[in-house]
Amino acid sequence: MSHKIAVMAGDGIGTEVMPEGIRVLEATAERFGIALDFTHFDFASCDYYLEHGRMLPEDWRETLEPFDALFYGAVGWPEKVPDHISLWGSLLQFRRVFDQYINLRPCRSMPGIRSPLAGRAPGDIDFYVVRENTEGEYSSIGGKMFEGTDREVVVQETVMTRTGVDRVLKYAFELAAKRPRRKLTSATKSNGISITMPYWDERVQAMAEGYPDVTVDKFHIDILTANFVLHPDWFDVVVGSNLFGDILSDLGPACTGTIGVAPSANINPEGRFPSLFEPVHGSAPDIAGKGIANPIGQIWSGAMMLDHLGHEDAGKAIVDAIEAVLARGDETILTPDLQGRGTTGDLGRAIAEHVAAG
Ligand code: NAD
Ligand code: IPM
Ligand code: MN
Repeated sequence: MSHKIAVMAGDGIGTEVMPEGIRVLEATAERFGIALDFTHFDFASCDYYLEHGRMLPEDWRETLEPFDALFYGAVGWPEKVPDHISLWGSLLQFRRVFDQYINLRPCRSMPGIRSPLAGRAPGDIDFYVVRENTEGEYSSIGGKMFEGTDREVVVQETVMTRTGVDRVLKYAFELAAKRPRRKLTSATKSNGISITMPYWDERVQAMAEGYPDVTVDKFHIDILTANFVLHPDWFDVVVGSNLFGDILSDLGPACTGTIGVAPSANINPEGRFPSLFEPVHGSAPDIAGKGIANPIGQIWSGAMMLDHLGHEDAGKAIVDAIEAVLARGDETILTPDLQGRGTTGDLGRAIAEHVAAG
């Protein structure tokens, strides 16, 4: 049986790291005897928008729903299309319409990557950010009124539903219960955001009762960001609302050395809809076209996709290959964000060769 994968490279470095993601997936599929059937789409990119006046074709849902997984690069090119139009017209639609309510973002310091934090070595940082991915601060409830007058006002409500909060907390507690340290940290701001965040805390407390073996703590988001820098070794599973999770999942990988390696899985755990796998980073217009983007975020996202499709051994082989290639510390293949002078293709090829060699 072959797995049908929809591929959307998107914009900027999305189009540069995607071929490396596919290269490594193909090498892995060959080694493990997995059949992957890729179909490439040009939509969900700003160039598609410039040509068609929309980010996605009208029948995108019918087109993508039959796929087993979606493999995405990065989207956004603010000089061509305002970000809120490109992102709300593509990625944020996928997350909502396909009910990908978990955004799972591992953060791990790896051999060969130099952390900007003094005294931190590989292995010191190893946690997951579990981000709520369909509601919270990213709501479409609100509007602009009295435009152009002194009374001009904009409102955007934060939405937390019991179902939405409980299901992400449950996923995070289950994940924490399976990990050796069994620790869960909740990101909150219930001292200042006085309705939604106390509700979040209340639901954390209620969920914790079902997981007596999991140690639970909580930090307000301001000091939590400080503790990511000062004590990244404290964390095991960190659960947060949509916005807090977004912020923490750039900060965490930056503390390990570069956001270029960070992967993410936008998951619909029930499997009713396809899940989406993409690097945490964006289209990086500042380095796009130079061939120097780090492809590891895309490649590791491919590993998460294989895990999700039931091939944990193959997913692990990719992560092992990433670590082995990084550990070599070969400056001629590491990309500049890893203090090397290699290209996107050099690093992608080295990982693919390592996987193929077994
Ligand atoms: P970004 O993640 O694209 O870039 C931030 C910085 O990190 C830049 O200096 C960039 O060069 C560097 N960087 C990012 N990925 C890298 C990689 N793989 N290798 C080496 N360096 C890397 O964030 P931004 O600049 O805020 O956003 C640029 C565009 O991407 C915007 O349109 C934004 O909305 C969009 N964006 C999309 C996604 C997504 O598709 N999931 C995520 C974040 C941002
Ligand atoms: C991410 C991105 C997106 C988000 C943006 C581009 C809308 O930053 O996937 O982390 O905020 O979710
Ligand atoms: Mn982000």
